[in-house]
Amino acid sequence: MCGIVGYIGDKQAIPVLINGLSKLEYRGYDSAGVAYFSENKIVVNKEKGRLSVLSNKLNGMDIKTNIGIGHTRWATHGEPNVLNAHPHINGDSSIAVIHNGIIENYLKLKEWMIEEYGTDFKSETDTEVIAHLIGYFYDGDILEAVNKAIDKMEGAYAIGVICSKEPDRIIAVRKDSPLIVGVGEGENFIASDIPAILNYTRNVYLIENDEVVELTKNEVKIYDKFGQIVNREIYKVTWDASSAEKEGFEHFTLKEIYEQPKCVEETVSRRLDNDDYINLDGIKISKKDIENINKIYIIACGTAYHAGLVGKYAIEKILKIPVVTEVASEFRYSDPIVDENTLFIAVSQSGETLDTLAALREAKRKGARILSVVNVVGSSVARESDDVFYTWAGPEIGVASTKAYTTQLAAFYLLSLYMGKVSEKISDDEYFKILNELKTMPNKVKETLDSSEVSKQLAAEQFNNESVFFMGRGLDVYTAYEGSLKFKEISYVNSFAIPAGELKHGTIALIEKNTLVIAIANQENLFQKILSNIKEVKARGAYVVAIAQEGHKEIEKVADKVIWIPKTLDLLTPILGIIPLQLFAYYVSLAKGNDVDKPRNLAKSVTVE
Ligand code: F6R
Repeated sequence: MCGIVGYIGDKQAIPVLINGLSKLEYRGYDSAGVAYFSENKIVVNKEKGRLSVLSNKLNGMDIKTNIGIGHTRWATHGEPNVLNAHPHINGDSSIAVIHNGIIENYLKLKEWMIEEYGTDFKSETDTEVIAHLIGYFYDGDILEAVNKAIDKMEGAYAIGVICSKEPDRIIAVRKDSPLIVGVGEGENFIASDIPAILNYTRNVYLIENDEVVELTKNEVKIYDKFGQIVNREIYKVTWDASSAEKEGFEHFTLKEIYEQPKCVEETVSRRLDNDDYINLDGIKISKKDIENINKIYIIACGTAYHAGLVGKYAIEKILKIPVVTEVASEFRYSDPIVDENTLFIAVSQSGETLDTLAALREAKRKGARILSVVNVVGSSVARESDDVFYTWAGPEIGVASTKAYTTQLAAFYLLSLYMGKVSEKISDDEYFKILNELKTMPNKVKETLDSSEVSKQLAAEQFNNESVFFMGRGLDVYTAYEGSLKFKEISYVNSFAIPAGELKHGTIALIEKNTLVIAIANQENLFQKILSNIKEVKARGAYVVAIAQEGHKEIEKVADKVIWIPKTLDLLTPILGIIPLQLFAYYVSLAKGNDVDKPRNLAKSVTVE
């Protein structure tokens, strides 16, 4: 996590750094800081709390500098306070470092430096170790010192380094944490993510693992791990900077909820040819490939994991191949049974989630074919995969994932249909029935959004609840999981999701008078079953809000309130069923005065294990 940014050029560096950090705050927002040169000395300014605290302070200072580095933090080592905020400096303040990632052997290095040099560490962070380490190796060439330091460092990092003795260079390194370089005219940038530099340039180098970058204002040199110059092609950013702005919405989260019709439309329509056959951006999976698959793993975290659960259902239904969906943080340590006949599908919005990346690497090591469903173009997961299916959600800034989820669902439907068609496991009738309905999803998502008042009103009535239960059956269980995650992460209310049939095996003991239960009842074949489960909780005094497909009037007799979604195929209901729950979570969060876009303790891109 954490966001890093660096600037070297003719502009005043501080506004550029603050602007860049404001686009990276989604990566962490416990504290923020900058380091820059003033009269050939490094000056560091850092503050606890949101970036605004730091920028207000800097606004009152007349800083003139053309080089600087900046950081927004999501605490890993040491509590979020000023001492632990980045940048960190070495003993004589000649080196300043910003860092995203974790140095796993930092304690060993720290002890060694204390013993050997009596180093006085000021913070509890692993990053300060890097600054001292570079300082010890410095002998007139900052590039060489950084290279020597990274030889000693284990773990994941993207770092930016400046040195007071060489005020015309920034050195940056990438190992397992994202890093891009923005290339301008007479100015260059480093950043964790593209939005940070989009106000200034659309020309980007995507930096690979183990690469070291040297920036001056007129030149960028990329070195591989053997010190050889790498010739990297410029990646031109084609998406609009405004897609990373709020455009009149009060929050990114709300804007992104409302972008879903467009994003689902983009994800689907870009893959269809004139005859409605699916073209997966050059991904070629042959009938023989599919026959050879012995197992499919879908691996992801959080919301992407929930999309993977729906993906499992869709693939099994259409392809009749067993699929295991597992959370990435468990996969690697479960001694998974993977070989060259395994298809491994990684799902990730950011494409930088370290758990997912580590799982992917483990599967790759064991010979699996890696296909990823990713939103961020050129991200690590995408680059390390054999095939990439990009969701076309555009930049997702709100920490709670919304549009990425519905586009991941659309991606899984397309993937299942594509593989079903190639392997002849699906009839033409069935193929076109599902596909034609999938094409109506953008409009139906829009229709669902048009009834947002109901979710808003529900939030106004229920925002003071101490706990909420989400339940469903079949595919609706996954909508319950995702609805519950959305709810807890932005409303901070304890919520719990459960397959409705499982309630009676223990959890029903928690239901009492007025407990709020959200029942997702979108599966035709399980409709009577969920009605019974609703009656069970009603009998214990619960207040039940049901989500159901239009026309299922019977539910009005058992639930206290019903939120309707447009009629569709049961298989596709997860795309619609989640919309009222996203809105409900949003409005509860708003009513409670929470920071919807940046909920406490979270970060958008989780690049630590
Ligand atoms: C929840 C949320 C997280 C992410 C998870 C995976 O709203 O955003 O649960 O879904 O951290 O992130 P990606 O998809 O970037 O790998």
